[in-house]
Amino acid sequence: MTVADLPKIELHLHHEGAAPPAFIRQLAHEKRIDLSGIFKPDGSYDFRDFAHFLSVYEAACEVLKSPEDFRRLTLAILEESAANGVVYSETFLSPDFCGGGDLHAWQDYLTAIQDAADEAERKFDITLRGVVTCVRHFGPEQAKFSAHCAAETAGDWVTGFGMGGNESIGTQGEFKWAFDCAREAGLHLTTHAGEFGGPESVRDAIHDLGVERVGHGVRAIEDPDLIRELVDRDITLEVCPGSNVVLGLYPDFAAHPIARLREAGVNVTVSTDDPPFFHTTMRREYEMLSEAFGWNAEDFAALNETALNAAFCDEDTRARVKKRLEKT
Ligand code: HPA
Ligand code: ZN
Repeated sequence: MTVADLPKIELHLHHEGAAPPAFIRQLAHEKRIDLSGIFKPDGSYDFRDFAHFLSVYEAACEVLKSPEDFRRLTLAILEESAANGVVYSETFLSPDFCGGGDLHAWQDYLTAIQDAADEAERKFDITLRGVVTCVRHFGPEQAKFSAHCAAETAGDWVTGFGMGGNESIGTQGEFKWAFDCAREAGLHLTTHAGEFGGPESVRDAIHDLGVERVGHGVRAIEDPDLIRELVDRDITLEVCPGSNVVLGLYPDFAAHPIARLREAGVNVTVSTDDPPFFHTTMRREYEMLSEAFGWNAEDFAALNETALNAAFCDEDTRARVKKRLEKT
């Protein structure tokens, strides 16, 4: 067995960002929506930089307009993840793209997504949990609707709350109300920081929002005091190396700080972020890490253990996934 065949846990996946371009084109065709401008001639998504990526992402979301669309999308995503060896996954779901922040609409979308997740669990032996995310560039007022949706549907399946979107707009602290609301509902917390923002953005995420995980967080490598704080507080980073390389943070995997963060004792995990946008899969991430840093089956088993410890799920699910990892 090569490392790419090992079972995997993924903690950082944007639901719409996992939509294969062919899936989006099919929906566009069915709904007679012209999306030709967001694809390259070879059929892949076409974007220049992070801001443009976000606008292409939102254009693709234009065809995802009903619970049934999300049911189909969820099945397609989980079939692909399972084919790449993922046995447990957490997906970021935005009420903004699932009914526009309206609670009743969100409940209908969520039911469809959970039905598809149940079907995928039976068919493909993969477990999914949902992390509701607000979108930073939609602003703190809109984020309150997302937090409300999250709080009202918190439970065994919706287990976390987080924030994605454009890190260069606004501050983490402006979203404190939304994160406090989610925390009071018993949800686990994560937010994107330290991807385009520097180490101070990771500090803000921890101090101002009280998150237990950080999406990316890799720029913590620039600040030894912050690295110590991440270790002391047992914070886990949801690292997405392939995404960081495509968006130009680092020239290649060898230059990526994931191995140095791990050596410093930080809890690091590996995810794909938006796999078709970044031309990656969990299998490819494992292959590239193994090639760049010589990581072997033992290293990846340790990575899985870190990810499972940091997973936003109940203890029964954690024990079940642990057994599933041991079976392979
Ligand atoms: N980063 C930040 N926000 C996002 C992303 C991402 O990769 N995908 C969708 N929203
Ligand atoms: Zn992300």
